[in-house]
Amino acid sequence: MRIREMEIDDLEQVMPIEEALFSVPWTANGFFSFLLRNDSVFLVAEEDGEILGYCGAILVFDQGDIVNVGVRADRQRQGIARRLLDALFKIAGEKGVTSLYLEVRVSNQAAIALYEGLGFQRLGVRKDYYEEPKEDAVVMCRS
Ligand SMILES: CC(C)(COP(=O)(O)OP(=O)(O)OC[C@H]1O[C@@H](n2cnc3c(N)ncnc32)[C@H](O)[C@@H]1OP(=O)(O)O)[C@@H](O)C(=O)NCCC(=O)NCCS
Repeated sequence: MRIREMEIDDLEQVMPIEEALFSVPWTANGFFSFLLRNDSVFLVAEEDGEILGYCGAILVFDQGDIVNVGVRADRQRQGIARRLLDALFKIAGEKGVTSLYLEVRVSNQAAIALYEGLGFQRLGVRKDYYEEPKEDAVVMCRS
């Protein structure tokens, strides 16, 4: 498996994963507009031409926001998200980013455990941040 930057052509494989994982998935146009930004970093985990997972962040000066993380359901719990995020931390560090932020549904224990294991700390809660179902977000930061 290798970690590399996401390309527009990857969306064909990324979209079905995104749609299977999230109740309010990003659209292909949503990914597209993020990929065109020069302050974004999107990575994929690829094995034999198959995309197994992805993550993305916006990096501005010394701060970054992780905006998307997903791993194909049949390949979860194999360390793929950890590898993707480690690669993202490295790139962010090289670009001078010292703090990374993210939001996660309060009920998403798997993701919260992942982020805490990678050194993120809980900063607070954003009330009713998510729709479908309406739910609070935990805001987390890694410095
Ligand atoms: C959250 C998600 C990205 C994790 O991806 P993954 O590749 O399975 O995660 P990893 O295998 O790298 O797990 C790393 C650590 O995270 C924690 N973790 C991951 N999945 C977990 C689960 N289902 N339950 C508890 N802890 C979990 C564990 O501490 C794990 O380490 P361990 O396996 O050594 O115990 C994946 O479950 C997913 O795509 N979920 C749906 C989309 C989503 O919620 N994205 C995040 C939105 S903020």
